[in-house]
Amino acid sequence: MSRNALRNLPLFDDASHVAEDKEVLQLDENGLLHTLNQWKTLSALPALRAAIAEFSSQIRDPRHSLRLNGSGNKHVEFSWDYFLGELSQIAESLTLDRARYYVDRLVKGVSEVRTSKINDINLNRWKEYEDIYTDSLWLIDRRDASGAHSAGYWGNFIPQIPHQMMRRYTKRGEWVLDTFAGSGTTLIEGQRLGRNTIGIELQDRMVEQAKLLVSAESNRYGVTVDVVCGDSTAIDYQAALAQYGQESVQLVVMHPPYFDIIRFSDDPRDLSNASSVDAFLAMLSTVVDKAAQVLDRGRYLVMVVGDKYANGEWIPLGFHSMNEVMERGFSLKSIIVKNFEETSGKRNQKELWRYRALVGGFYIFKHEYILVFKKR
Ligand SMILES: C[S@@+](CC[C@H](N)C(=O)[O-])C[C@H]1O[C@@H](n2cnc3c(N)ncnc32)[C@H](O)[C@@H]1O
Repeated sequence: MSRNALRNLPLFDDASHVAEDKEVLQLDENGLLHTLNQWKTLSALPALRAAIAEFSSQIRDPRHSLRLNGSGNKHVEFSWDYFLGELSQIAESLTLDRARYYVDRLVKGVSEVRTSKINDINLNRWKEYEDIYTDSLWLIDRRDASGAHSAGYWGNFIPQIPHQMMRRYTKRGEWVLDTFAGSGTTLIEGQRLGRNTIGIELQDRMVEQAKLLVSAESNRYGVTVDVVCGDSTAIDYQAALAQYGQESVQLVVMHPPYFDIIRFSDDPRDLSNASSVDAFLAMLSTVVDKAAQVLDRGRYLVMVVGDKYANGEWIPLGFHSMNEVMERGFSLKSIIVKNFEETSGKRNQKELWRYRALVGGFYIFKHEYILVFKKR
């Protein structure tokens, strides 16, 4: 089955895939429902299989009456693979009852949208969302470098992280808060996906850069996307949101410094300048407390964090941070382990690290965590 997920247009929430979908099958919705309902009246499996075989071959003709070519009729979209897969499943059923069940399922997929309270995933067509990750191990070999995205800011995360999180945990038009906005990766994704997205970032120059990057892309859903320059341990979150007429958000994304692994600035308020691991965790906890106050109950907080190595010891920053969040009225939904993508590190540096690892009895970091929490 193709990785392209096809959806009814009004639900389609990933602009980048619209352009990629080359093999879209667009059908007249009423005409298709009529055909499916006719199949349900057939009283024998061979007759149903024959009808499906005939339909499957005829529908390939672009002049077929159900194929739409820009007409104004209400339409439904599928990937070819998905649609033909559904038809095969009906035809391969061993009993008429089972075949009718699959026809019914397809009818529902065409005519009804069923979503949960926290996202726009149409559960009646869940099979089509092949590009949404559900495994806890993410091995991603390439960062999304489309449009304004780039790896330019040392320490930024790959766009796939906010992309996946927003699609799983928000609906279009909802509000996302990123408490460590950096170069604006979450903001760019938010704008693309039609999520209002507010970032907080300490460094002026990064605020400017994030704004520039966001403005380089079109705002096709007309959402609010902005970065506030400030200290996320101290800022008044309610007042910051009030500027946009908002009282709360539906998703919080946090990608703090991994303590002092990368020093982002000389500012003492910067978490990467914390005086110790405990001081780092105290600052991070303050941000969690503050963000939690503006996050709606039952909604999600996502923290992306990695561990560090110092004085011959592995410091499990990820797990320490996780415990801090769990002590603050959140339940843990997932620990996702994500690989670090291959950096342009020089070969001799890699060899040096391998040598050090062999001598020092440790393993080289190749992963970070995406911790997913739900506010109780
Ligand atoms: C790991 S980076 C985030 C990168 C971001 N996800 C991106 O894709 O560009 C952490 C960011 O947190 C910012 N930061 C550190 N301490 C902060 C604080 N107290 N308030 C706001 N931002 C802070 C740093 O300047 C840095 O840009």
